[in-house]
Amino acid sequence: MSAPSARGLRRRTPTQIGMETGINAASGTGIETGLGAEFSPALLAWFDAHGRKDLPWQRDTTPYRVWVSEIMLQQTQVATVIPYYQRFMEYFGDVAALAAAPLDEVLHLWSGLGYYARARNLHRAAGIVRDEHGGVFPTDIDALCALPGIGRSTAGAILALAHGQRQPILDGNVKRVLARYHAVDGWPGLPVVEKHLWTLAERHTPRARVAAYTQAIMDLGATLCTRGAPACARCPLAAGCRARRQGNPTAYPAARPRKEKPQRASILLLLENEAGEVLLERRPPSGIWGGLWSLPEAPPEARGDADIRRWCADTLRCRVDALTELPGLRHVFSHFTLMIRPLRARVRRQDAAVMEGAGYVWYNGRSHARGLAAPIRRLLASLEDGTGER
Ligand code: ADE
Repeated sequence: MSAPSARGLRRRTPTQIGMETGINAASGTGIETGLGAEFSPALLAWFDAHGRKDLPWQRDTTPYRVWVSEIMLQQTQVATVIPYYQRFMEYFGDVAALAAAPLDEVLHLWSGLGYYARARNLHRAAGIVRDEHGGVFPTDIDALCALPGIGRSTAGAILALAHGQRQPILDGNVKRVLARYHAVDGWPGLPVVEKHLWTLAERHTPRARVAAYTQAIMDLGATLCTRGAPACARCPLAAGCRARRQGNPTAYPAARPRKEKPQRASILLLLENEAGEVLLERRPPSGIWGGLWSLPEAPPEARGDADIRRWCADTLRCRVDALTELPGLRHVFSHFTLMIRPLRARVRRQDAAVMEGAGYVWYNGRSHARGLAAPIRRLLASLEDGTGER
């Protein structure tokens, strides 16, 4: 089960969140709220017929055993976790054994599972349970959440699975089930969306058979209500599922919004000689368009035409007079968008002491088959066919 990711929620205790949402662990069950009274009974009936009941951590469900399993399952599949879990329990059968072990030994048993912060947190939390809780796991959700590596959902799972305490959970699988069932819009990483999902999770959690319900909703998300190919035909919640009714279950939950790419600007100089040839410059081997031919790029600090003309004289050894603005180009790279401002100017042959062979070439569009950067090829083609400004 993945830890809750809401940055905003993490700093508040589950009790506080319950107060904010107007719901606490002892309130509504869905029947009272008209939220879908059939939800938990249908899920439990499905669990009785199809749920997983023989996983190693489902035997002898002490808080310690459930805790270790939930941490291992946070970023790792059940099938991978099983042998690690069994070995871990052979070495560290209870929280006292784990607290007494050297960290190196814990990390050694974790080796191959990845995300080693999980193992360090387990070890640290075991020490806290021993030293501050008399070796007994707290049964209070806020106290449990205060332990390293235990978020609100993991704490809820421990209390529900080990003690039958009515606590909701909201790992990635559960978010998907609820987002689909209620057609909840928005990316669950947004605090407002996550808060709404917690409200729904709380309302659906039944008073009776909480442990079975908790395992059931996780199993449903892991086996039927999967991300890419939900098996709606076999789903016990299909009748009340809004996303299914809309015909687009995979549209929920919404994907993380794409970040706007940063923009960079570049002034490229389209310098033409009297023969109609254009000056090309080879890009440095690394960086954008590495090793390809492009137009000379004015330095970023150039403020106006006078600066650019001076730079042409100093660096390219050519005199340019009027600079004409051409339509801008936008080129999208993986990490940024380049806004190209092309400026065009005529250069007289005798002025253009530019050195062919030293990373520069006069290009006539026919004789040279050069590796041109794609937007430069487009720009030159648009000038040739007259769609660019002359
Ligand atoms: N994923 C997270 N918790 C789980 C559990 N208790 N059983 C199966 N898969 C899980």
